[in-house]
Amino acid sequence: MANQEDDFKKVISHAKEYGYVFQSSEIYDGLSAVYDYGQNGAELKKNIREYWWKAMVQLNDNIVGLDAAIFMHPTTWKASGHTDAFNDPLIDNKDSKKRYRADVLVEDYVGKLDAKIEKEVVKAKKRFGEKFNKQEFMTTNAKVLEYQERGKAILKRLGQSLGKENLADVKALIEELEIACPMSGSRNWTDVKQFNLMFGTKLGASAENSTDLFLRPETAQGIFVNFLNVQKSGRMKIPFGIAQTGKAFRNEIVARQFIFRMREFEQMEMQFFIQPGTQMEWYEIWKERRMKWHLSLGMGAENYRFHDHEKLAHYADAAADIEFRFPFGFKELEGIHSRTDFDLGNHEKYSGKKLQYFDHETNKNYVPYVLETSIGLDRMFLAVFSNALQEETLENGTTRTVLKLPAVLAPNKVAILPLVKKDGLPELAQKLVDDLKWDFNVTYDEKDAVGRRYRRQDANGTPFCVTVDHQSLEDGTVTLRHRDTMAQERMDMSAVADAVAKEVDMREWLKRI
Ligand code: GAP
Repeated sequence: MANQEDDFKKVISHAKEYGYVFQSSEIYDGLSAVYDYGQNGAELKKNIREYWWKAMVQLNDNIVGLDAAIFMHPTTWKASGHTDAFNDPLIDNKDSKKRYRADVLVEDYVGKLDAKIEKEVVKAKKRFGEKFNKQEFMTTNAKVLEYQERGKAILKRLGQSLGKENLADVKALIEELEIACPMSGSRNWTDVKQFNLMFGTKLGASAENSTDLFLRPETAQGIFVNFLNVQKSGRMKIPFGIAQTGKAFRNEIVARQFIFRMREFEQMEMQFFIQPGTQMEWYEIWKERRMKWHLSLGMGAENYRFHDHEKLAHYADAAADIEFRFPFGFKELEGIHSRTDFDLGNHEKYSGKKLQYFDHETNKNYVPYVLETSIGLDRMFLAVFSNALQEETLENGTTRTVLKLPAVLAPNKVAILPLVKKDGLPELAQKLVDDLKWDFNVTYDEKDAVGRRYRRQDANGTPFCVTVDHQSLEDGTVTLRHRDTMAQERMDMSAVADAVAKEVDMREWLKRI
């Protein structure tokens, strides 16, 4: 556990030091669970968004984009169920006065059981050496099986109690597991209460004439209320999808874990409108498609897993998470939800307007069912960034910190480094920058010895460095260095653009899906 915490702290400080993520309003001591993206973070975020958008919208002729407003008519949230049911179960510790999410306390307890399993695996690996078979160990070792069974049983009970709104049983579970407040160490808990997560605000100049509004807690509702506008104006035929990216806001109670759980964050959501009755088929298709999208980035299949929901959200008849191995363990990265006709049906009811599709083949009207894929952009950023940050021990015994971002997502694709700051090398290097900047984000660095500059670019995640030296003046060749292997190759300056493009071209990465 201590190791996990240290690793995570390194991720957070690296993100700050290299201009990826800053605490919001830091000069005023920050704002809890709100973050700003720096010069590199803004680029990485933009690239992830583009990778998602191209995969979902550009490459699917039956999916189109949308950019709906953050403010929506307040009745939207009555229809969607958020006014009544978008709650988290809260519990307070009477001694520390700290407030927690009751379900997160229980999940953290189960996380500790997972950590115990990991420990057993590490011990066994040491004991059995080469012969160790993890799969066999996980399915036969008595201790591991006991931890797994316990974890499953606890989560099942939690899911059932929350599903039935049996908050007394959630408290009983916390007491039975002897969960103590991480701050005070005491088990002096209040009852569990529900707390609505939406941020409220007001529209209008005077108090008497103002309307209560909410900042949207998900982007999905902007898609639902525009369903017919898009379907009619785009002459869309079912099955078809509407995708959008944008900010969402939630007054999260447990607001730790950096950009994993934020109060202001960005979602990338797609609602796929289908015929009623076909939802299970599409559910499986979209689970597979979304997993392929993740795997195309090459961050290791072993770092992903599906988790089917025991407790379904108020709108779903089936739901699964794609979980990723974050520095603090496997956690939800993306949700795939079969939302039935819950949203469109309720918007019909509350607005009094028909939100139906006319099927020309059957000559019938119906309210379509919806299959949703929903991923947090910031959470994806954390997955990419934390997975990329590595410390390597080199052959000469020194260590290097390297940010092995998928090249397609890296903020800067290439750094141009004149070997020395004289003899016309900066001018030649600058010429190369001017040639390449039409195609890629290029950075220029002439300060310090070239070895230190390589390390700086490694830590920054730049996939390529190009060194311009005295030979370059004579024969027009330069050295191209690869971040991950540190291999260097000599090539003509005119060949650099193609060599870089081959590795960073989004087309090529998207073709792996
Ligand atoms: N429209 C469905 C929906 O919003 P969700 O499971 O509540 O479903 C979807 O959220 C995704 O949004 C999550 O899988 C996660 O990646 C991201 N997300 C949710 N709450 C978040 C938060 N407070 N901070 C960062 N990302 C969040």
